[in-house]
Amino acid sequence: MLHTLLGSLTVSIALFGTGAVFANDSKLGDDVYEPSVGQGGKDVIWVPTPDSLIKQMLDRADVQPTDIVYDLGAGDGKIAIAAARDYGARSYGIEFNPDMAALATRNAQRQGLADKVTIINGDIFQEDFSEATVVTLYLLPSLNLKLRPTLLDMKPGTRIVSNSFDMADWEPDDTLGKDYTQGYFWIVPAKVQGTWAIEGGVELDKAELNLTQQFQNVGGSITIHGETTPLLSAKLSGDNLVFRFTNPAGKHRVAELKVAGDRMVGNLLENTSLEEISASRVK
Ligand SMILES: C[S@@+](CC[C@H](N)C(=O)[O-])C[C@H]1O[C@@H](n2cnc3c(N)ncnc32)[C@H](O)[C@@H]1O
Repeated sequence: MLHTLLGSLTVSIALFGTGAVFANDSKLGDDVYEPSVGQGGKDVIWVPTPDSLIKQMLDRADVQPTDIVYDLGAGDGKIAIAAARDYGARSYGIEFNPDMAALATRNAQRQGLADKVTIINGDIFQEDFSEATVVTLYLLPSLNLKLRPTLLDMKPGTRIVSNSFDMADWEPDDTLGKDYTQGYFWIVPAKVQGTWAIEGGVELDKAELNLTQQFQNVGGSITIHGETTPLLSAKLSGDNLVFRFTNPAGKHRVAELKVAGDRMVGNLLENTSLEEISASRVK
């Protein structure tokens, strides 16, 4: 057990690096508790994200006052505090270390943010953060992967930003920063894989759409009056699906749909006119 803990601490320190990455621009503690950078945590050590990267992460996530931001492994609360203070969001931090969680709560109170920032003293693998519209991470590659199924099950359109660590074959929608202050950004994609029956519109009524999906990458074909043609391109961003194809008459078409569970509603652009269309998943 001790061996495992020491092993994971060694891996953590190696991944987090030394020197530049440990240099930080925030005060560490207060009169009650003084944490030290690199101290052990349940699943990962504590290293605070630099203020400059926090800004890049929250800017890229386009945090708004209407957002609910969760920082998983909140440390001294600086990301949750920045989300509330600088973007007006309601924010939460989940932190396992009780001393650290209490420090983060006091830090929020000192900034007059007690009503906007809540620090939960708990385990990120036990606490429910499904209400989040933005999730921030500074964990480890293995922890990102462990969280991945939960993150992918969140509401489509939820934004995720991670300091330093990616999500393996779930490619980021964007990267930010560089070197020791690198971050990754994802938008949780809707689940669109399957066969969809299209209704409405002159051209596409009773057409069948077949979609394959790996994370946000979508492909497939459309069958119109028995004629199947591959989608020329398909782009899924959260619950917004846009795909292009050539119809049986050789005309280029663009469909834009919003996905809600097993239904999609939107428009087909036919030359210059818009046709309302919808689709239901049949399998
Ligand atoms: C690398 S620090 C990041 C702190 C903060 N998010 C930031 O970016 O400044 C990771 C934090 O996660 C906490 N932690 C480790 N395992 C945890 C778990 N299972 N649940 C909640 N917090 C955890 C550690 O105590 C540490 O404070």
